[in-house]
Amino acid sequence: MAEISSDIQKAAEILGGNELVAIPTETVYGLGGNALNRDAVVRIFEAKDRPFFDPLIVHVASKEAALELAEDVPEKALKLMDAFWPGPLTLVLPKKDVIPDLVTSGLPTVGLRVPDQPLTLELLKNLDFPLAAPSANPFGYVSPTSAHHVNDQLGEKIPFILDGGETTVGVESTIAGFENNQPVVYRLGGLSIEEIEAVVGRVEVKVNASSNPKAPGMLKSHYAPKHRLHLGELKALHARFEGKRIGVLSFTGSGLDVTYEVVLSSSADLNEAAKNLFRHLRSFDAQEIDVIIAEPVPEEGLGRAINDRLRRAAG
Ligand code: TXA
Ligand code: MG
Repeated sequence: MAEISSDIQKAAEILGGNELVAIPTETVYGLGGNALNRDAVVRIFEAKDRPFFDPLIVHVASKEAALELAEDVPEKALKLMDAFWPGPLTLVLPKKDVIPDLVTSGLPTVGLRVPDQPLTLELLKNLDFPLAAPSANPFGYVSPTSAHHVNDQLGEKIPFILDGGETTVGVESTIAGFENNQPVVYRLGGLSIEEIEAVVGRVEVKVNASSNPKAPGMLKSHYAPKHRLHLGELKALHARFEGKRIGVLSFTGSGLDVTYEVVLSSSADLNEAAKNLFRHLRSFDAQEIDVIIAEPVPEEGLGRAINDRLRRAAG
């Protein structure tokens, strides 16, 4: 089992030795390693069982630190940094040579973000290198939103988990890149499209379920819990699986008679729903059920990211 503690000094020492530390962020926990050291980066891919064609996000303490790693940064990228960093937004920008090709899976761009989590921000300020960190889950599984989620799945493979409590946003960062200097969103996440558009005007959303690494984070089997999940209208799904032990994931409560139910937000708050989503998805694994049925939430604000993750969990 990994050591779980909030000792930033210890985390910095381990990372300085090119070993891995799981780090809290406002979105999900990440599996961090020195982004400039190939051994550390290889360890990240190995611990996660992640294919080398899926590039890693690089975490830094500030906009200034990010600008040392990227070049030809569009005006709108600078605006987004000023508006939303620290925060749940990853910007894909042309990379400088200091970033190893291994980190970006050979792409000429790097995904950069400044996480909004006090312990991790402090840690990043204390390090003299940036941290590559994918979500700290085995490849293809639901992302962790607490230190103990990380320990359950990767505790045997890493020495240390920096404990920042439960994450506050609950879904991964929104990923945006630039095509002809115009922002394009490649992954829906913890920063809503509405908020981005309020700063830079209309953005294109290019999210699909292919395994093309230019459409990031978007491998089809992502976010899958152990049991089969069906997404749709709950009453109809309930009737379809009559006689089976059903687990329900509802937005505000289903009123159905089932074996197990989790409610994302009884007050219909999409931010609360996002925060609860992965913990609730995970909870089905320990239940004696045959099938999970889930309903989409309103397609606005963080609801878009929630629906995206539910569609992927349904496969
Ligand atoms: O909220 C988050 O973004 C979390 C926390 C830990 O920061 N991290 C995260 O990392 O979700 P990960 O590796 O699970 O997902 C990042 C996605 C990958 O699927 C990858 O395809 C995409 O970002 N990505 C990274 N660099 C990219 C690049 N240069 N171009 C296109 N996609 C990139
Ligand atoms: Mg991930």
